[in-house]
Amino acid sequence: MKIFVINGPNLNMLGIREPDHYGRETYSELVEKIQRHCREKGICVEIFQSNHEGDLVDKIQSAYKNADGIVINPGAYTHTSIAILDAVKAVAIPTVEVHISKVEEREDFRQISYVRLACVKTITGHGTDGYIEAIDFLTDKK
Ligand code: DQA
Repeated sequence: MKIFVINGPNLNMLGIREPDHYGRETYSELVEKIQRHCREKGICVEIFQSNHEGDLVDKIQSAYKNADGIVINPGAYTHTSIAILDAVKAVAIPTVEVHISKVEEREDFRQISYVRLACVKTITGHGTDGYIEAIDFLTDKK
């Protein structure tokens, strides 16, 4: 069982950026938390972050035949990127959308999610625990 966890722009700034929305946990703490959970559950995980849309598309494409599930937080590209939506559709791998903040209670421009159209589940507002819930959702089903 192999899971890709893919994070978009500014998620590397966790712990520094807008703590009221995203909390005080740093990106490396998030990475450690995911790795520990996957180790305990015997799941193979690859964690990736990029601030660049094309790099995110490349990473999603590389999941084809290499991953059984994808957990994705595309950051602001959630609300703009048809390319990320198309990449998730192209690989046709079960994908869970995660947002640390409760996007549905934020600005109007955050109410559109393109990637959601290709996702089997969306988790919002559970902080970084949302990543763990997404991994469990993808792996407990198998
Ligand atoms: C986010 C929500 C997005 O609207 C925002 O642009 C982010 C983070 C979240 O995890 O809550 O960068 O995806």
